[in-house]
Amino acid sequence: MVKVLAILYSGGEFAKQQPRLLGTVENKLGIADWLKEHGHELVVSDDKEGPNSDFQKHIKDAEILITTPFHPGYLSREVMDTAKNLKLCVTAGVGSDHIDLNAANERKITVAEVSGSNVVSVAEHVLMTILNLVRNFVPAHDQITRGEFGGWNVAAAARDTYDLENKVVGTIGAGRIGYRVLQRLVPFDCKELLYYDYAPLPEEVAKKVGARRVEDLKEFLGQCDVVTINCPLHEGTRNLINKETLQYFKKGAWVVNTARGAIVNAQDMADAVKSGHISGYGGDVSFPQPMAKDHPWRTMFNPNGGGNAMTPHVSGTSIDAQIRYANGTKDIIRRYFEGEAQEPQNLIVEGGQYASKAYGQR
Ligand code: NAI
Repeated sequence: MVKVLAILYSGGEFAKQQPRLLGTVENKLGIADWLKEHGHELVVSDDKEGPNSDFQKHIKDAEILITTPFHPGYLSREVMDTAKNLKLCVTAGVGSDHIDLNAANERKITVAEVSGSNVVSVAEHVLMTILNLVRNFVPAHDQITRGEFGGWNVAAAARDTYDLENKVVGTIGAGRIGYRVLQRLVPFDCKELLYYDYAPLPEEVAKKVGARRVEDLKEFLGQCDVVTINCPLHEGTRNLINKETLQYFKKGAWVVNTARGAIVNAQDMADAVKSGHISGYGGDVSFPQPMAKDHPWRTMFNPNGGGNAMTPHVSGTSIDAQIRYANGTKDIIRRYFEGEAQEPQNLIVEGGQYASKAYGQR
């Protein structure tokens, strides 16, 4: 019998109303019966912070840990020290930065994620958020439903409304999501599409979307009207956008980050939006998660009262995505039980080494 611990987000009444909310504590990724039939033990909880949490209590003898980026169980080196039986960590989704990957390597713990499972979902959310900011959607919508500016004031909304056409848009990271964002931008007739990534796209692939690589971050940021962040969080991207690098942005640029909150310095970005240096910021990730009640991005508005397109971490957990990452999680665990090799693209670290090239240049 194998003990499997899953830390997921709570769905409450919504999980009952919508059984396809598979990523919830209640619906257990659809794998509870299957694990039971095979005689394994499954513990599922959303209680993840502190030494008395279910996470820290049950990790001590679990062999498989399932976590989700949407409600991350932070598996630090210290917590990993208590996890004497742990062999496999499965991220139900994409992005395993909530696990100390170097510590996992030292202990030869395998970390796998369901690569590709929600990349279209995120790319669609990125496009929506870019348009939302550039076209000043939220303040305009607030006029209609909340009666702002007397309930109908075209000028108040239009003063900050632009077209995406003829703007320069750049992605930090041109992997699965970054490239799909570029593909979806093509019909908008932007002035230029740029990318910043240490892994260059194959020439033909870049040509298909008309994207140009800029190797220097300062030069890249200085050319973009819109910057979208689509790289993993690791040592090389933590706090990448901060007070210093914000100076390189064009005045009035828009920023969309659905990658990870900790890539952007929260207070520095809030200051830049409040001053109007950055016209708007949107995305769905923060550090830590759930977002603190007093997190600066909750009260971050530009001088005209707009420029905030934040949502809770929802982009990669559409109902369509949940089916894919639930099936992928099951497949990774099945392979583990049956001694079958994992799909190479799903492996982040294995056997004491990084299997993925996306978590930093080494
Ligand atoms: P991917 O592995 O296909 O692509 C990542 C790209 O980032 C690679 O091309 C890599 O070379 C590049 N990169 C790494 N470090 C970089 C750096 N320092 N500067 C520039 N580029 C760098 O990953 P994918 O599927 O595109 O996902 C990217 C990230 O998006 C995930 O790691 C995760 O953090 C986040 N994500 C967020 C979701 C959400 O719901 N908000 C859902 C899925 C992923």
